[in-house]
Amino acid sequence: MFRAPMNPGLFIAFEGIEGSGKSTQQIRLAEHLERLGHDVVCTREPGGTATGDRIRAVLLDPALAELTPTTEMLLFAASRAQHVRELLRPALARGAVVLCDRYLHSSLAYQAWARRLGRDAVLAANAPAVDGLLPGLVLLLDMPVQDAFSRAAERGRLDRIEQAGRAFHDAVRAGFHAERELDPTRFCTIDATGSADAVFEQVLAAVAPRLGLVS
Ligand code: TYD
Repeated sequence: MFRAPMNPGLFIAFEGIEGSGKSTQQIRLAEHLERLGHDVVCTREPGGTATGDRIRAVLLDPALAELTPTTEMLLFAASRAQHVRELLRPALARGAVVLCDRYLHSSLAYQAWARRLGRDAVLAANAPAVDGLLPGLVLLLDMPVQDAFSRAAERGRLDRIEQAGRAFHDAVRAGFHAERELDPTRFCTIDATGSADAVFEQVLAAVAPRLGLVS
């Protein structure tokens, strides 16, 4: 269903449950690669464009408890469709390294597995959105849900999806593991339980060979 991306740049997606430290590692990697002279684009989903940010506000609004899983799946895909065309493809076409906090595999873990919509439905909804663009590397920041929850709680008020509870997030983590089994060469698992420095060492070791860096 997916065409291979025809882009000279490198597309790296950070994936994992909430509180796994994705954004911290994304920033650290961006700073590191910029120091080495790379053109780096940091972005996130849902969002990454003005349209996507409006969709994000709907998706994360705790007041919209009635949002159905199917609506949610389609809104994530809509944000992605805009992101691919407006930001990701142009950045990759000019040779940038794109670091994206969540992408398609979040829809698979959250909507296909945890919300139980199934992979077929989520892949069908996302095929026109991603239009063949898959990350060259998925960094899965993996840690037990309990540890991630304590970090997330420190950050304060929970959004609509964070409020879904422990069993839901256990299912999300299991979903990421299932996706990794299905696509082992694209995934690199990072043990996210250690210090930010220890985690960054693993991130760099995963990325270095793809950019011809000595880690
Ligand atoms: P965000 O605050 O960005 O969470 P985090 O900092 O953990 O990445 O909120 C994004 C939420 O949306 C998060 O709960 C994961 C969820 N999500 C999906 O359910 N499906 C998707 O396709 C994407 C991109 C995110």
